[in-house]
Amino acid sequence: MKNQIRTLAIAAIATLGVVASAAVAQRPDAAPSTMIAAPTEAHKGDADGAFVSVSRFSEPDGPSIYKRVCAGCHMSDAKGAKGAGFYPALAANAKLASAGYPLYIVLHGYHGMPAVGKMMNDQQVADVVNYVRTNFGNKYKDKVTAADAKATR
Ligand code: HEC
Repeated sequence: MKNQIRTLAIAAIATLGVVASAAVAQRPDAAPSTMIAAPTEAHKGDADGAFVSVSRFSEPDGPSIYKRVCAGCHMSDAKGAKGAGFYPALAANAKLASAGYPLYIVLHGYHGMPAVGKMMNDQQVADVVNYVRTNFGNKYKDKVTAADAKATR
């Protein structure tokens, strides 16, 4: 008799356990970790997470935007490159004296240069233009603003 009661008690506890875990599994906020991981999988090619979405750069400031977007063509020292293509130096470039010139080119592209500014917000465009105009031997003090970028789009 004592044994029977114990068996029953164990069965009851086991049943409760199953019911409890079923309840947990049905809670929407208790999604299995495989489901949570899914969106990351969808952006596999984007291992360093540099894009917020496929159409926007997420870099927060001029130097990182330059590194991520411009350096691939203009080189990290901004001295440009010649080879299969021609990438002008932005370093010590007198054409940057007029802020509107790089602003326009970043937003609209120019011949072999794609309109990379279309994938940035106004502040990012202004930041990267200000960055190249005040670095790499360029010392142009006047700054462009997000409003300037907006007006140039
Ligand atoms: C895919 C390659 C590529 C990327 C990325 C790129 N550029 Fe260019 N850029 C070029 C090429 C090619 C030219 C020259 C176009 C021509 O004169 O035919 C150019 C020209 C320029 C010019 C004009 C230079 C001059 O002497 O007239 C500026 C300014 C410039 N780029 C700034 C930038 C900035 C800032 C970025 C990043 C936000 C950037 N570029 C990203 C390829 C690129």
